[in-house]
Amino acid sequence: MSASTVAVIIVAAGSGSRLAHSEPKAFVPLAGRTMLELAVDAALGMHETPHVVLVVPEGRVESARAMIGPVAEAAGAPLDVVEGGVSRQDSVARGLALLPRLVDTVLVHDAARPLTPSLVFDEVVQAVRSRGHGVIPALDVVDTIKRVDPSHRVIDTVDRSTLAAVQTPQGFPREALDRAYATAGAEFTDDAALVASIGLPVDVVPGDARAFKVTVPADLHRAEQLVHDRLAREGRAANPVAGAPAPMPRVGTGVDVHAFSDDPGTPLWVAGLEWPDGRGLAGHSDGDAASHAIVDAVLAAAGLGDLGSIFGTDDPALAGAHGTVLLGRARELVERAGYRIGNVSVQVIGNRPKLAPRRAEAESVLSAALGAPVSVSATTTDALGFTGRGEGVAAIATAVVGPV
Ligand code: CTP
Ligand code: MG
Repeated sequence: MSASTVAVIIVAAGSGSRLAHSEPKAFVPLAGRTMLELAVDAALGMHETPHVVLVVPEGRVESARAMIGPVAEAAGAPLDVVEGGVSRQDSVARGLALLPRLVDTVLVHDAARPLTPSLVFDEVVQAVRSRGHGVIPALDVVDTIKRVDPSHRVIDTVDRSTLAAVQTPQGFPREALDRAYATAGAEFTDDAALVASIGLPVDVVPGDARAFKVTVPADLHRAEQLVHDRLAREGRAANPVAGAPAPMPRVGTGVDVHAFSDDPGTPLWVAGLEWPDGRGLAGHSDGDAASHAIVDAVLAAAGLGDLGSIFGTDDPALAGAHGTVLLGRARELVERAGYRIGNVSVQVIGNRPKLAPRRAEAESVLSAALGAPVSVSATTTDALGFTGRGEGVAAIATAVVGPV
């Protein structure tokens, strides 16, 4: 193992609160391997073999060393592993403190950007060496950017030609980074800001779309898709060793029951439609058991709990709310969690309303509200039970969701 003059500090000590996974973010699997392993692979794919420093969460030093040690050794890369601090800046400082004297160029990389190509690392190293100061990869900002006040009112439009969306690895001459960390007077969200705060120059070089940061569940699905696409192009299955499968669709089930109201003036809403035939169903909302069963099914499929836990059974905003409004809200939540709804099947159980004549209409209203095909069927229970006695209506739904 030869000594390296380039070091890559991979910060992996965050908890990943926005990803909301049971494991700390860097230890979350992505197509069968952890994000930390993928990030290390990218660093080890550099032209020059780096000294690798992993900054990991409390209690993870030994497991990280066991996971990464053999790969680093096979690549001939020296490896250090250390516990991180409360903030990202603390974590980088702890990694920096471990570097051997020989290291003259330091790259700081987020484990949360596991698909960053090795070429980006090489370009950053090369630019730091040739320019003699800090270099960070960045992408042009393509969206129009607005400044907005806390009440969501637009204040103005920012000139995007002077903006850049920055990524990691961020590279610096060792001496500049050491000096910036030694004199740091405030917390910054990246190393470039810290280095710039002591008056040192930092340049941007072209970043790479694949260096995006995995922050929320939808990012993880996107990353997973990219790995599967890449492996499929190369004619390989994801992680043949561990046999990690492609992401599977997820199913969910929902059941709901509403009693017919004592008030003869209550309108009857079932399966997104109003029915003229007789008194309606009791409930805090419109009592549409079919829509509520669908909401429960899609929330369950996405692992988001159920209608009561999300909306609250006595949420005043939902008083009298139509089932279709709840369906739209459920769709938003599911999509925000990184899933799209495949399809839903719902069966209404009761003596009335007679759904058959308006089945197509109900399917079209429910499908439009949910943004996915909904099939509606109906049955009676042969005069048995509460539905057979005409005391209420039940509905049972099954939903399939898949990664975006
Ligand atoms: N990081 C770290 N030490 C901390 C905080 C963050 O090493 N105290 C690392 C993370 O592990 C991640 C990178 O800094 O690789 C970028 O941070 P971010 O994406 O914000 O990750 P988390 O802080 O883990 O996520 P969240 O903010 O959602 O909790
Ligand atoms: Mg964070």
